[in-house]
Amino acid sequence: MCGATAWRELVEKGDLTADETVLALGTGGVSTFATQFASARGADVVVTSSSDEKLGRARELGADVTINYEETPEWGDVVAEQTGGVDHVVEVGGAGTLEQSLQVAGFGGHVHVIGVLADQEAVVHPGPILGKALRVEGSMGVGSRAMFDRMLAAMAGDEVEPEIDRVFDFDEVREAYRYFEAGDHQGKVVVSVE
Ligand SMILES: NC(=O)c1ccc[n+]([C@@H]2O[C@H](COP(=O)([O-])OP(=O)(O)OC[C@H]3O[C@@H](n4cnc5c(N)ncnc54)[C@H](OP(=O)(O)O)[C@@H]3O)[C@@H](O)[C@H]2O)c1
Repeated sequence: MCGATAWRELVEKGDLTADETVLALGTGGVSTFATQFASARGADVVVTSSSDEKLGRARELGADVTINYEETPEWGDVVAEQTGGVDHVVEVGGAGTLEQSLQVAGFGGHVHVIGVLADQEAVVHPGPILGKALRVEGSMGVGSRAMFDRMLAAMAGDEVEPEIDRVFDFDEVREAYRYFEAGDHQGKVVVSVE
């Protein structure tokens, strides 16, 4: 689901090209697939994370610029300075990150509103949406079988492998949920049904 979401947003809806820049927030499932897909298509990728260790792995997966958002709460300033404005934001934070996401999107940029991981009370000013003619688009559901097949074909061609953090046996499902809830994972946490 995370892979299909990242694929649909960046490639099918976003028409991502090699000369564009993508900002992926955090190193969870959606953002990690987004990092890999964007890098495979030749785009520049910026990744934020609360963990320097995870940022190191993000660089191995294709991130060009990495920022620790806990050490640098005003990460938007750094992204704007380093990129001059990004073309796509993989916006998984919600109210807690949306204001800075709108700030770092370049003119005509596409803000893919996918999740609400950093949800909190916030007032978001629509000025950047108007002033930069941004495309702020909600993401809902996954996609068609045909889209999924196109994603798998691209993954095979580009040798993109899902980033699996940890696999739990089915009888460890409670531990799997607790592990996922703790947020220490990078990419996907899998429960095996074999
Ligand atoms: N709309 C859709 O179609 C769709 C589809 C799939 C998922 N979603 C939603 O999208 C969101 C992401 O899903 P996921 O499976 O990728 O989640 P996940 O794997 O649970 O992502 C967790 C990661 O998000 C990052 N994060 C949390 N707060 C952040 C912040 N303030 N700034 C930047 N990163 C932050 C953290 O990364 P670090 O540890 O690196 O800091 C955390 O490890 C969820 O809300 C999910 O419900 C929506």
